[in-house]
Amino acid sequence: MGKKTVVDIQRMKREARRITMLTAYEVGFARMIDQAGVDLVLVGDSLGMVALGYGSTVPVTMEEMLHHARAVSRGVEQAVLVGDMPFLSYQIDAREAVANAGRFFKEAGCDAVKLEGGREVIPQVEAIVRAGMPVMGHIGLTPQTAGRLGGFKVQGRDLASARRLVEDARALAEAGVFALVLECVPDQVAAVITETVEVPTIGIGAGPHCDGQVLVTHDLVGLFDRFTPSFVKKYANLAPIVRQALASFIEDVHTGAFPAAEHTFAASEELRSLLLADD
Ligand code: KIV
Repeated sequence: MGKKTVVDIQRMKREARRITMLTAYEVGFARMIDQAGVDLVLVGDSLGMVALGYGSTVPVTMEEMLHHARAVSRGVEQAVLVGDMPFLSYQIDAREAVANAGRFFKEAGCDAVKLEGGREVIPQVEAIVRAGMPVMGHIGLTPQTAGRLGGFKVQGRDLASARRLVEDARALAEAGVFALVLECVPDQVAAVITETVEVPTIGIGAGPHCDGQVLVTHDLVGLFDRFTPSFVKKYANLAPIVRQALASFIEDVHTGAFPAAEHTFAASEELRSLLLADD
């Protein structure tokens, strides 16, 4: 299986094949996700909450994103690698957006970048696409500006806000995004957007009618237990297993059960006697 491209992802929509995307922040998970056959790997700015211990995605910097994107890119051979542009790396103006997008390609080996927002980011999307870099859009709940949206809430519940989302989706598709993340959007609104735009929609908390689905990997495997959004399906619950392993290690060290003979490089008693004789 060769390296996938954004063109392959777009073809999947035309062929009605569902698209998968997962987040990764380091090489170990990146390898497992890539080898499992996931279509896109997103170095999400959820990095801030999942791996860096911030309370939101707002403090995440370009340097932090690039550091982790470089690690992830060493583990991705097949999937399309998407770097998430952090807060204020693209909002100021199109020029700065192009320069920062370029860093994901030149310094971290990404195949695309993602940025949040609707019509207000069209100049940035157009400029990045014009410079030759594929862009993924992200509308609905946009965590970098959640405060302005009244918190972490489902977006597009009433007719006026649902219409705004459809218009944003249309405008982003016209501006050249190759795909669109829909976060926390009612299922029927996501269905209309998916039917309206030619580019694939990838949902998170946006129901079953999107062209693909994305989750934060640490949520999917039960490794992030500060909170779990209601739209997450936990396919494993690793946190208790890891905690149990850590407790067992401590107990084994305290009781002397670890290391056992099979974990030990044994030498002869004679060597010990000779060493002691040196004193
Ligand atoms: O940062 C992230 O992980 C994301 C996904 C939730 C889509 O933007």
